[in-house]
Amino acid sequence: MTSPRKILVTSALPYANGPIHLGHLVEYIQTDIWVRFQKMRGHDCRYVCADDTHGTPIMLRAEKEGISPEELIARVHGEHLRDFTGFHIEFDNYYSTHSEETRAHAADIYGRLKDRGLIESRAIEQYFDPVKEMFLPDRFIKGECPKCHAKDQYGDSCEVCGTTYSPTDLINPYSVVSGAAPVRRESVHYFFKLGECAEFLKDWTRSGALQTEAANKLNEWFEAGLSDWDISRDAPYFGFEIPDAPGKYFYVWLDAPIGYMGSFQNLCDRLGLDFAEYWKKDSEAELYHFIGKDILYFHALFWPAMLEHSGFRTPTRIFAHGFLTVNGEKMSKSRGTFITAQSYLEQGLNPEWLRYYYACKLNGTMEDIDLSLEDFVARVNSDLVGKYINIASRTAGFVTKFFDGRLDVPMQLADGEALDFLIDRLRDSAEEISGYYDSRDYNKAIRKIMELADEVNIFVNEKKPWEIAKRDDSYSRGDLRVVCAITLNLFRLLTIYLKPILPRLAEAVEGFLKIPSLTWQDAQTLLPQGHTINDYRHLMTRIDPKQVDALVEANRQSLQATAGQPEPHSQVRHAEHQQHQVQPIAETISIDDFAKVDLRIARIANAEHVEGADKLLKLTLDLGGETRTVFAGIKSAYAPETLIGRLTVMVANLAPRKMKFGLSEGMVLAAGPGGGDIFLLSPDEGAQPGMKVK
Ligand code: 2FM
Ligand code: ZN
Repeated sequence: MTSPRKILVTSALPYANGPIHLGHLVEYIQTDIWVRFQKMRGHDCRYVCADDTHGTPIMLRAEKEGISPEELIARVHGEHLRDFTGFHIEFDNYYSTHSEETRAHAADIYGRLKDRGLIESRAIEQYFDPVKEMFLPDRFIKGECPKCHAKDQYGDSCEVCGTTYSPTDLINPYSVVSGAAPVRRESVHYFFKLGECAEFLKDWTRSGALQTEAANKLNEWFEAGLSDWDISRDAPYFGFEIPDAPGKYFYVWLDAPIGYMGSFQNLCDRLGLDFAEYWKKDSEAELYHFIGKDILYFHALFWPAMLEHSGFRTPTRIFAHGFLTVNGEKMSKSRGTFITAQSYLEQGLNPEWLRYYYACKLNGTMEDIDLSLEDFVARVNSDLVGKYINIASRTAGFVTKFFDGRLDVPMQLADGEALDFLIDRLRDSAEEISGYYDSRDYNKAIRKIMELADEVNIFVNEKKPWEIAKRDDSYSRGDLRVVCAITLNLFRLLTIYLKPILPRLAEAVEGFLKIPSLTWQDAQTLLPQGHTINDYRHLMTRIDPKQVDALVEANRQSLQATAGQPEPHSQVRHAEHQQHQVQPIAETISIDDFAKVDLRIARIANAEHVEGADKLLKLTLDLGGETRTVFAGIKSAYAPETLIGRLTVMVANLAPRKMKFGLSEGMVLAAGPGGGDIFLLSPDEGAQPGMKVK
């Protein structure tokens, strides 16, 4: 084993105005597994997080509830911590960005950036609510969509037709806060000159701190050019006032990542740790941020640039993950799949079922992951209970009944057959599995562990301890003891490998086996000769599919309670900043190149799921006389039945492609970053299938 490393880990700070849901939990579970693994390896690993407490939505939410923002964030802090604890997310510190530590670090970083000439102020014009007397973020302006004329659409995009635009394009815009028509008003803002950090950021991007897909994304942003970042907001705003600018506040995204420092500072002060040792330039400690791919811009551009130019170290690595879909679609309150952490726990579902299922799905990439509720039940029941728990439940009873709980570990049966091969196989897998944990390829770790569990089950099936137990001679008793001891040792090894994912279950196994808390190193040892264990008590129950149905029902009902509120706007959590997600325009092509593409109006005659495909839907397209089959990667955004009958646009002369699931004869056109945000193109009314698009 390598020497202990000093590791500081964070997960993104959740906003203090809403409940934790299963989408959030992907990240906290992913991080918690990683941290628990590093701790089991003997590293000095600290995991900090906090509530992200500032900004307009939180200020308005408190006002609506008739309480102060401080009261709101104190209440939500309690709720968030309760939910995280319920899912066994074990932070070393769970703090708040509304803290003196964060304020001090924000003021310090701002001051240093300013000293380096990286802060600039200038007047800009923005929408202003004349009744409420406040500037309005885009998401607080609504109006009629300029494209499809749907009413009450947000200032950044239309949820009906998917068009994105700026609030100035809306017809009859109004303020969501007061209903008044917004006016344009000028005010002085402070900017961080990100453009001047471009060279540093380009180098940093190539330093190995990012996943390949993330580095590619950054290159797109570099090509599009880095614009200055507006870091101030006018009063009224809930946040930190900018030290030398009365009435101006730091924009929530300025102090949010500094909240990582604030939380860690608080931990250092409590435990007597040295903050600078972790954050100084050239620190030997490692710093990892787990985030969702939607906030890459903040963590891979603003944050390292701020740190570098204020004299701190930069992150060792940023680990971005994808979004969660439920049953192949974005989470939806009306379908009951916008499931809160609290309701999951209240319905009596075991949090470790979800931890296990997410681990089965997670890898080190930014791909979205799907929680298929049917598959969830099947995987947990067949793997966890059917394969793993079953190993202990089939053998432990004999140890109590015949040997007073005492285990001996000779490796050989009376007829001389050696049994240590399987022990060696499991022990020798420790490094492979630890590599998977380290690279966040938990899906591979699970696959390997379950392969090993299969082998252990084959061993038990072959040795049939229940039959040996029926014979009553001294050879058989000896053999039974050997088979049970070997099996329970194998079970112990599997428990070590599963422990980062299933910490409570592992604790229960430690209690049953009467052993101290298992570490990774323990995979190289066996239970000592003559060790006694406790009586076996059932360790985990199966999921009853009815529990999952009830969970969905409970979350569907909660929509009625909140009737009138909009569906959550996918998982894009930084709506104030969507302009940064715009992709740069590709290289120009000639008109002749374009003319080669034969675009046609198509009617979706049928749409269906493709068995075994995570992302694809099978579309049957009517081209007005000709029918085509196209496999389209839009499953994360559309339920097939909602597509049938709808018109769209397809590339009709794309060479047919043989795919795993069949021949795809063309391509449909869609926009958007992926996941729940895919928008299939729709022609205006009057278009007919087969028409050529010019
Ligand atoms: O997107 C979000 O939910 C933000 N509250 C995440 C902040 S992460 C960090 F920068 F604080
Ligand atoms: Zn529209």
